[in-house]
Amino acid sequence: MSQSLAILGGQPVRTRPFTSWPIFGEPEEQRLLRTLRSGKWGKLHGLEVAEFEQRFAAMHGVKHGIGVVNGTVSLRIALMAAGIQAEDEVIVPPYTFLATATAVVEANAVPVFADIDLETFNLDPKAVEAAITPRTRVIMPVHMAGQVADMDAIMAIAKRHKLVVIEDAAHAHAAIYRKSPAGSIGQMGSFSFQSSKNLTSGEGGIIITSDDTLAEACRSIHNCGRIAGGLWYEHHVISANYRLGEFQGAILNGQLDRLEAQTQTRDRNGQYLAARLSRLPGIHPQKRPADCTRHSYHLFLFRIDAAAFGAPRQAVLKALEAEGIPVCGGYALPLYRQPLFLNRAFGPYLPNASQTLDYGKVSCPNCEKICREQGAWFEQSLFLGSQTDMDDIANAFEKVYQQREALNRWAKEKTA
Ligand SMILES: Cc1ncc(COP(=O)(O)O)c(C=O)c1O
Repeated sequence: MSQSLAILGGQPVRTRPFTSWPIFGEPEEQRLLRTLRSGKWGKLHGLEVAEFEQRFAAMHGVKHGIGVVNGTVSLRIALMAAGIQAEDEVIVPPYTFLATATAVVEANAVPVFADIDLETFNLDPKAVEAAITPRTRVIMPVHMAGQVADMDAIMAIAKRHKLVVIEDAAHAHAAIYRKSPAGSIGQMGSFSFQSSKNLTSGEGGIIITSDDTLAEACRSIHNCGRIAGGLWYEHHVISANYRLGEFQGAILNGQLDRLEAQTQTRDRNGQYLAARLSRLPGIHPQKRPADCTRHSYHLFLFRIDAAAFGAPRQAVLKALEAEGIPVCGGYALPLYRQPLFLNRAFGPYLPNASQTLDYGKVSCPNCEKICREQGAWFEQSLFLGSQTDMDDIANAFEKVYQQREALNRWAKEKTA
């Protein structure tokens, strides 16, 4: 193999593709066909979503699962079930997908951004505590990339200040914190089944909880405000049809059978890669605390300290791509720097708070550093293959490191 970097015309470390996603087969086909032929395509009549809700709740050791159309609506329904009032505050991290914060706005509440920890990429409990005001009602930690946030600390803060915790577990299917599955620790947990997720039906979401009252509220809100025992044309709360469909339920039941083995593979490969990459100067995989019993590796996060590695992040990522390793620089800016927040483009929501809110003044230095300078990730499907796949990734990294001077010359020429 040529030692010359592929970006300079050398032989790439890897030419084979990694595992493609999604993975499906006969079980999904059979369930889909059975659903099709039953003619019962909606949740209120079929059996697939009901089976899935029951299995997903049982897997988390909780009493209820409410399948909904996606993992954004699930967050908003959870907020509404928790009794959020206009212009209440919800603490969220800024290093997350848009939905964590926009679900709050769509519940007519104010997202308040608390910084993340530089090493774990998860909400920093000290920043959460500092963000609490008399208007705070909910803390919404994201289990970033599939590593559960510091839930002991977050639950303790919530208890002290009488706040509700809604876990955004969109990345964390089958992740485990000590002995507790992600999503089962707060009052409610929310998951997404969108295409990229570790458990997917293309689109979809679920709320889980052991609280009967919250479950009943979620069920009502996702079903046009109907109530158990009520009439069909009897609507009690502001709501709509947010029900998960039977075809998605059919796929999810098939996918759920695969989840345990896939999660074990991802966790094993992720840990192996983290150990190999940690040996390289300036490469810092997401720090895994002792309470992380299992990481779901929806993403494999890492930081590149350019000074210690000896080459800038963008050049390293481009060089890895050329070596045949798909990689991404992660969220390019903190959520509060999106035009949506800077311009308070909230439509009819937050009419009062919008007058005074100034997201331009928000500063979360760790998130800024990760977005602007250091962050990067690999996607989950890379981790479904063999250890050889991990060795290819690590070997590509080592090659780029060894050839960093040539890479720097290439980067300089590009910018000249
Ligand atoms: C952390 C996080 N929360 C919420 C969502 C929203 O899920 P959905 O796309 O299913 O609405 C996503 C992703 O898509 C996400 O990554």
